[in-house]
Amino acid sequence: MVKNLNIFSLDGKVAVVTGAARGIGEAISRQLGEMGAHVVMADMLDVVDETARKLGDEGLSTEGERVDVTSSQNVNELAKRVNAKHGRVDIVVANAGIAYESTTEDHSDEDWRRVMSINLDGVFYTARAFGNIMLDQGGGSIIAISSIAGVKAVRPELHIGYDVTKAGVAHFCKVAGVEWAARGVRVNAVGPGYTNTEMLQRVGLEQPEVMARWIDDIPMSRLLEPSEIAQAVAFLASDAASGITGQLLMADAGYSAA
Ligand SMILES: NC(=O)c1ccc[n+]([C@@H]2O[C@H](COP(=O)([O-])OP(=O)(O)OC[C@H]3O[C@@H](n4cnc5c(N)ncnc54)[C@H](O)[C@@H]3O)[C@@H](O)[C@H]2O)c1
Repeated sequence: MVKNLNIFSLDGKVAVVTGAARGIGEAISRQLGEMGAHVVMADMLDVVDETARKLGDEGLSTEGERVDVTSSQNVNELAKRVNAKHGRVDIVVANAGIAYESTTEDHSDEDWRRVMSINLDGVFYTARAFGNIMLDQGGGSIIAISSIAGVKAVRPELHIGYDVTKAGVAHFCKVAGVEWAARGVRVNAVGPGYTNTEMLQRVGLEQPEVMARWIDDIPMSRLLEPSEIAQAVAFLASDAASGITGQLLMADAGYSAA
């Protein structure tokens, strides 16, 4: 018997990914594009156009867009533009985020506000703006990027503001997922573990003892590839996850289970 794999297809779907210029956002855009979606790649960096063109050269359907997720007006305008151009939005990935390090006792007000505004306000503004479009059209899938730092105190690095935003992102998805469940809009979070991006490669070079500790704590004894985070996002975006909402799916090589 031939199994029905169409449930994994994103053919004809319109997807928006924030923080898409590089790293995990770029990988998510590539994965959604490879599964058939048209992907609007939004970022505050102009280089997002170049990244979108690169994926376009790989044969994917992409476009670059500019957004600052800390501005609700900016996010609302992006949602309006995308909806006006494509007539619908099926998938939104609220991926834009920043990390930094600070002890709790030395944490500045400015760093606290900055991380809240990008990582938490940004997810709320993105989910609200695109969620309204999805509620009007009767369906859609929203995925926000949380972190292992949202479910446990990671070590040895310290970034309590970041950790609180990522716990908030997961809880936002739980509550919004339930609120919109009967209206066809699913809301879920993906929690990446330590992922092989430029930033972590730098840690590996500059602080090999930190990298060694991470690897020791990760049951799979390795970093995740950005594509592995993207695969979890794509699953939640697809009809294969039609019964799943309000959940946090950890893509963390076993880190949070250990
Ligand atoms: N890399 C990891 O190991 C890891 C682990 C857990 C969670 N995460 C999360 O995954 C997401 C992506 O991380 P990454 O490692 O690819 O980071 P990254 O810094 O490589 O990419 C983040 C992207 O977000 C964009 N961005 C930042 N502020 C923005 C704003 N105000 N408006 C619009 N775009 C903005 C940046 O320009 C950048 O392109 C983040 O939410 C991060 O917290 C990463």
